[in-house]
Amino acid sequence: MRTYLVIIALAVIASCQIPELPMPMIERTSFGTLPDGEEVDRFQLRNTAGVEASIITYGATLTALTVPDRDGFMEDIVLGHDTLSGYLEANPYFGSIVGRYANRIAGGSFTLDGETHTLARNNGPNHLHGGVRGFDKVNWEVGEVIEDTNQVGLTLNYVSADGEEGYPGTLTVRVTYLLTEDNRLIVDYEAITDKATPVNLTQHAYFNLAGGGSIMGHHLTLAASHYTPVDSTLIPTGEILPVEGTVFDFLGGKRIGDQIDHDDPQLLYGGGYDHNFVLNRVSRDLMLAATVLEPESGRILEVHTTKPGIQFYTGNFLDGSITGKKEVRYGRRTGFCLETQYYPDSPNQTNFPSAILRPGKVYQTQTVFVFRTQE
Ligand code: BGC
Repeated sequence: MRTYLVIIALAVIASCQIPELPMPMIERTSFGTLPDGEEVDRFQLRNTAGVEASIITYGATLTALTVPDRDGFMEDIVLGHDTLSGYLEANPYFGSIVGRYANRIAGGSFTLDGETHTLARNNGPNHLHGGVRGFDKVNWEVGEVIEDTNQVGLTLNYVSADGEEGYPGTLTVRVTYLLTEDNRLIVDYEAITDKATPVNLTQHAYFNLAGGGSIMGHHLTLAASHYTPVDSTLIPTGEILPVEGTVFDFLGGKRIGDQIDHDDPQLLYGGGYDHNFVLNRVSRDLMLAATVLEPESGRILEVHTTKPGIQFYTGNFLDGSITGKKEVRYGRRTGFCLETQYYPDSPNQTNFPSAILRPGKVYQTQTVFVFRTQE
C-alpha cells in the first residue's frame, strides 16, 4: 500500500514538474456532403501563435486564414464561403487549387508533339483554370496528416484521368499544405504523368489583409521588371515588356490603387490588374516574388515561389453578386490574388518557359505565404 502511495505521489510531482509545451494542432471535421453523397472534410491547422488555416478537401480549398495585426488582433484575411453550398453555387476559385492548367489557354486548344488537343472554352473564346470541372471542383483524397512540433499540415491527392477536360495523360497530383510555427503557409505541389501534358498548378486565394473592404490602399511590391501584355480576351500577346515607366511597375512598391484606373489599354481589358508578371529570377530556388502591406492593420503578406511568373489579379470581376463568409457581399476589388504560375497560354507560346511535364519527370513547385506585421 505504502509503495503505491509513493508511486502515486511521485507521479503527481512529475506531472507538475513537466510543463506542457504548447503544440501546433490540426483538427478534422465534416464540412458537408456533395450531391453525389461524398463527404467533404475540413482540416483546421493552428499554430501556437494562434494563426489558423482551414482547408477543405473539395477543391483542396483554403477556406479561412486567420492572422494577427500589429496589435495582435486576429482577422480572417481570405475571401470564401462559410458553407459547402456556397462553394458549389458561386465560386470564382476562392482559395482553390487550380489545375490542370491555371489561367488561360487561347481558343481552348494547343498542339503538343504534333497532336492537337481540344479543351473546353469556358471563358469567352478561351479555356480558363482547367475547364468546366477543374481541380477546384473535385473532392481531393486525404493522404498524410502531418503533426510535428514545428508544423502541422496535410497532403491531398487527386488523380486526373487521361483525357479529363481534354488534357492528355493520367496526372497524379499531390498538394501539401503546411502551417509552420514561424507563420508560414507552405504549399508544395507534385505531379507525375504517363503522357506529356501541360501542368500549371496554383493557389487562387483572394486576400484582403484588412479583413474586408477595398484593397486599393494595400501597398504592393513585385520582384518583376517585365510583364506579359494581353489582348482583349486576356491572352498574352507573346511579348515580354519592361514595366519601367508603366502602371505595371511595382518594383519599388506602390499602393494597388495608385494607377489602377489609368487609361492604359492593358488595364481596360480586365478592368484593372489581371496580368502575369515575369519574376526576376537568378536561379530556380524559392524567391521572394511579392510583398503586400496593409498600412492600417500593419499586416504583411510575402509570397515566395519557385515558379517563373505570378498573376496579379485585383478582383475586378467581383461585382457584389456573391455573398460570402459572415454574409459579406464581395464587391469589386475587395480581394486580390497573387497566383504563382507558368505564364498564361504557355502551351501555345514558344518563347515562354515550358510547362510541359513528360513521363519520368516530376512536377515539383513550391509557394510559401509568410505572414508578419509592420511594427
Ligand atoms: C484570372 C482572372 C479571372 C479570375 C477568376 C484569375 O486568375 O486571371 O481573369 O477572372 O482568375 O476566374
